[in-house]
Amino acid sequence: MSEKREGFGSRLGFILVAAGCAIGLGNVWRFPFITGQYGGAAFILIYLLFLLIFGFPILVMEFTVGRASQRGVGKAFNLLEKPGHKWHYAGILMIVGNYLLMMFYTTVTGWMLYYFYRMVTMGDLMGMTPEQVGAAFGDMLGNGPLLCFWMIVATFLGLSIVALGVKRGVEGVTKVMMVALLFIMLLLVVRVLTLPGAGEGLEFYLKPDFAKLKEAGIGKVVFAALGQSFFTLSIGIGSMAIFGSYIGKTHSLPKEAANICVLDTAVALLAGLIIIPSCFAFGIKPGAGPGLIFATLPNVFAQMPAGRICGAAFFLFLSFAALSTLVAVFENIIAYWIDAHGVERTKAVRWNFVAIVLLSLPCALGFNVLSGFEPFGAGSCVLDLEDFLVSNTLLPLGSLVFVLFCNHKFGWKQKNFLTEANFGKGFNIPTNPVLCFYFKWILPAVIVFILIMGYIEKFAPGFYARIFG
Ligand code: ALA
Repeated sequence: MSEKREGFGSRLGFILVAAGCAIGLGNVWRFPFITGQYGGAAFILIYLLFLLIFGFPILVMEFTVGRASQRGVGKAFNLLEKPGHKWHYAGILMIVGNYLLMMFYTTVTGWMLYYFYRMVTMGDLMGMTPEQVGAAFGDMLGNGPLLCFWMIVATFLGLSIVALGVKRGVEGVTKVMMVALLFIMLLLVVRVLTLPGAGEGLEFYLKPDFAKLKEAGIGKVVFAALGQSFFTLSIGIGSMAIFGSYIGKTHSLPKEAANICVLDTAVALLAGLIIIPSCFAFGIKPGAGPGLIFATLPNVFAQMPAGRICGAAFFLFLSFAALSTLVAVFENIIAYWIDAHGVERTKAVRWNFVAIVLLSLPCALGFNVLSGFEPFGAGSCVLDLEDFLVSNTLLPLGSLVFVLFCNHKFGWKQKNFLTEANFGKGFNIPTNPVLCFYFKWILPAVIVFILIMGYIEKFAPGFYARIFG
């Protein structure tokens, strides 16, 4: 029997949960290291531009589809599409995208939890040399049972919160995590900015140097910025649409989407502001890649006064960011089983716990038992493949579906989309012809172009360098 559909208790709850879905590893782990790799401030400018011209309107479209249908994507298209149309198949693909995202997110969340636990209970990272800290990260990755254990802990924590329901679990717990996250983050920013030598890092982070973009490869940078702008807002797989379905019509959706974008961007920029200047202050390169916060930041904390407390606070901050996304995406998955198949919440949680743990094993084992599997050549692993499929394929493709569906006659129609989106207090999307034309033709064309360009860069590296010199 299907349970009565719950909604959020307050608007603040909605904002914090949707922001919690957006704020995650993308902000606190991925954003700082790709900014470090792709040239600092110049990369950030491209990323912010993409957020504004792609991320924001698509987020509005997702919320709108959710609010209009009062369902998650597994059912939303069925309710809004014209009879006989097939948009609902895309909804199923989006649910697959949620599973795929969780297949690596649970493992990386496990790393955060493990480092927090290690900082609090062992503190051993504090007494190590930089080589030993780097080796400790490598040792963790090489330890399959350890990674599986923390991946299971992350999945268990996330699903236990979802099992409590929308108001008590998802909204209640996420609110607390988000407030704590913002508080810890501000403390850490103040701590880092008062470190001697942080200035050079600030310059790298805040002063654009476009020569650095060329060095990193312009095609790569654009593709990375695009992937990041979709990933950070979790758009394209309906994990935001579900929250549109839990809110009322008091406020316009562009206003709500703007709130989420601002919060998400603020957290990403502040996470970079913690990480990049502290690397510079202690002579550590910010381009160290995915291991940046694990292999380098413990050195920073080791040299800092009150370093162990700051280190524990930092990994707690990362854990909250990651868990808030896990909870939100799990809620979307569980809501799919409730809405589309009438499964009871606790039963859906139990079965999905088993399914998600099994599906997450390839990523957790990809660093050790399955390390021989290198999908993109030497040094790559299962996580890279899953991340590529989600960030650079399913999120842009799903976003394309939302854009076409909301703006074309063969979908839901632009008039319906704009009326629903603009309903309520707050600013509206102007219905002027230029913007309508942009949503209808330019936005989808650019998504397709960049998607193809990204595939070329991935599978024929250096293609643009050969053309553009
Ligand atoms: N939006 C989520 C993140 O940034 C997926 O981690």
